[in-house]
Amino acid sequence: MPETQDILDTTVVLRERVESALSAALAAGPHRPARLLEAMRYSVLAPGKRLRPVLCYLAGEALGVPLERLDAPACAVEMIHAYSLIHDDLPSMDDDDLRRGRPTCHRAFDEATAILAGDTLQAMAFELLASDTAGVAPAARLAQLRRLAAASGIDGMAGGQAMDLEAETRELSLEALETVHRHKTGALIEASVLMAADLATPAEAISAALARYAGCIGLAFQVRDDILDVEGDEAATGKRSGADARLNKSTYPALLGLEGAKRQAAHLLAEAETALEPLGVAGARLRALARFVIERRH
Ligand code: IPE
Ligand code: IPE
Ligand code: MG
Ligand code: MG
Ligand code: MG
Repeated sequence: MPETQDILDTTVVLRERVESALSAALAAGPHRPARLLEAMRYSVLAPGKRLRPVLCYLAGEALGVPLERLDAPACAVEMIHAYSLIHDDLPSMDDDDLRRGRPTCHRAFDEATAILAGDTLQAMAFELLASDTAGVAPAARLAQLRRLAAASGIDGMAGGQAMDLEAETRELSLEALETVHRHKTGALIEASVLMAADLATPAEAISAALARYAGCIGLAFQVRDDILDVEGDEAATGKRSGADARLNKSTYPALLGLEGAKRQAAHLLAEAETALEPLGVAGARLRALARFVIERRH
């Protein structure tokens, strides 16, 4: 089967898998406030690409980890991601009204509910990861919990979001911008891959290869996001274009121009592909996914 068709078919199956697990975790309960739960389901189950769960599953597959053991980290990272999007869209942050092709959470509900939906998703992600019993050794789960917490907090996504907001009032060097992007977006993408590795304890060379791969695509993902903010089609991205310029954000196209940003993304793809070499044929789907990250239109 041609590589592109294979990755498309595989991601459809994995997307459906994680979506049904997410929906089950977000079931109604006797004391669960209905409006809060509705807002959480609205944001999490809206049509997202599920890149982070798919990466977690594919990295696990490359290492021979059974899919059942990957459901909890896959769900947990998507919950953290969904929470980050809800808060990113709030009026006090990027003030956006469109997300995944629908009104943002605070527009569809209200600001307080959106804040609480984000808070609750974050807590639920860790509860789910800590509670899952798919035969995973406690030490491996602990490693995943620590990794996801680090990638979400001050040394990861939330720290990166603070840097991003601070950069609205000044121009960053390329090096500083790379740091912002690696924190606000790269960290969770890296954790998606490495939480799978936590379940397999691969040889040092393979762990290092996956870490390098994940670092490259984590940064490349945000570079492409910046590019799509300039030249993307709102109908495809499901987000407002031009939001970064409106907010005076520091981005790769702002600093390097569109062509420079695209060259940077292509360079990161090449580096990601080189990084995967130690995995041999087992890395084929991760390689195809890297190409998707750099070429995507949504
Ligand atoms: C958008 O992430 C925010 C960034 C970190 C760039 P995605 O592009 O993965 O959003 P969804 O999950 O597909 O909606
Ligand atoms: C957000 O980056 C990264 C997050 C941690 C959510 P952006 O602000 O560029 O994401 P979009 O473009 O709104 O999805
Ligand atoms: Mg933002
Ligand atoms: Mg934003
Ligand atoms: Mg963006």
